[in-house]
Amino acid sequence: MASGRVVHTADRTIGSRQLAALLPPEVLARPGYRALAEAVRTLILDGRVPLHVRLPAERELAEAVGASRATVTAAYDLLRESGYLHSRRGSGTFTELPAGHAPVGAHALVPDDDGIDLAIAAMGAPEGVLGEALAWAAPRLAEVARTPGYRPYGLPELRAAVADRYTRRGLPTRPDQILVTAGAQQALVLALGLLCRVGDRVMTENPTYANALDAVRHARLRTAAVAVSDRGWDMELAESALRQTEPRAAYVVPDFHNPTGSLMPVEDRQRLLAATRRAGTWLIVDETISEIALDVPRPAPLASLGSRGGADHVLTIGSLSKTHWGGLRVGWIRAGAQLITELTAVRVASDMTGSLLDQLVAIRLLADLDQGLPARLAQLRDQRSALVTALQQYTPEWRWQLPPGGLSLWVDLGEPVSSALAERAGAAGVHIGRGARFGVDPGTFEHRLRIPYTLPAARLEEGVRRLAAAFHEGVPLSPAVDRPHWVA
Ligand SMILES: Cc1ncc(COP(=O)(O)O)c(C=O)c1O
Repeated sequence: MASGRVVHTADRTIGSRQLAALLPPEVLARPGYRALAEAVRTLILDGRVPLHVRLPAERELAEAVGASRATVTAAYDLLRESGYLHSRRGSGTFTELPAGHAPVGAHALVPDDDGIDLAIAAMGAPEGVLGEALAWAAPRLAEVARTPGYRPYGLPELRAAVADRYTRRGLPTRPDQILVTAGAQQALVLALGLLCRVGDRVMTENPTYANALDAVRHARLRTAAVAVSDRGWDMELAESALRQTEPRAAYVVPDFHNPTGSLMPVEDRQRLLAATRRAGTWLIVDETISEIALDVPRPAPLASLGSRGGADHVLTIGSLSKTHWGGLRVGWIRAGAQLITELTAVRVASDMTGSLLDQLVAIRLLADLDQGLPARLAQLRDQRSALVTALQQYTPEWRWQLPPGGLSLWVDLGEPVSSALAERAGAAGVHIGRGARFGVDPGTFEHRLRIPYTLPAARLEEGVRRLAAAFHEGVPLSPAVDRPHWVA
């Protein structure tokens, strides 16, 4: 299975068959030089072919993809001209990025023009709340500042507050089961770093949160992809993938899944818990979006369904990024106390402590969460309605399921033109996450676009108006390769 394969940087060289296996089937069926060049460019931009690795010789690649040598030569020429390859006499042709290009996956969060950023499914901090929390934190900071300030596990008060919240939500938790991290993303990176070795298999949903896929690829892990759509999970496929491939870990986003918005039914949660346990697979549950329950009660933590030790293999990830602010780097992992100790050792290898000021602020934010959340959810419901109205007005041919929570719509464009549309929309100042960014395999989800409703209504309307204009513009959109977009 080609899913999620990635070339390891340590290899320094990619073989012709290895590269051919990463190319989408339509390129292999008709390997024209432009299509070949674009496919290789996408692999470089998506990080599947790392920078500074040597590509196969032209003759070898031509053989592996069933093309003429002239086709591969022309494709390499094109990639060289556009800055994605360079050749060194006597040593071969290497991948690189054009000069001045932002590093892969590190595009600016906020466009520096007056563009409309629909690539980020997150909101600004709730009005006034950070200021109040800072004022509360200031005198406490003075106390904490008398200590050396290294708290690799996190501030004890914050660990206790997070544990207490899990306990109140039906999952009894002690403070020593919590590691405070710099956001959910670091939590995932630490979990993968502790549990997996290079080349291990990790089961992920497909599509899934793009930066999680990046973390899996950077850890040089292989993926076993399980389909999820805006209608739910293919649990049978998940069970058979777990049985057959016994992945080392599985990563899921059961609550208002990013990007589809789906909420995993309780029965599927139980099946997943049981199947991962049987397979000896660590289950990493990303509950970053759990609190954004717009039309349904907030789901209980998935691990709370595993009674009598049935969830020892579960690591639960959470964060304040969606309830409060992504700029406050506070997230956490909940797991067994022994595992937390081991995760902390992994953390210290790259990061001695999280910011204690952020953590003090977080203690106050968590204490007030239940009072503040309803207003945030009401705002999101209003914005979701505004987005739906705009879509109905400007692009009535697009389809979507209204998600019961979360921050975005997973829109079906009806045609596989998402990357081309994202590129054209970019020229009109709208930055958006093309469907393929969320897919395990290159070139997939081309008929999908993720549109967050995290901007004010007027901006959403203007964004959709520009998207629709790009979509309806005279020349038909053809499937094309996009520049990398940073999405969250
Ligand atoms: C499912 C999921 N996990 C993790 C994150 C990242 O969260 P954090 O900012 O806490 O690292 C996001 C943000 O979009 C997300 O949607």
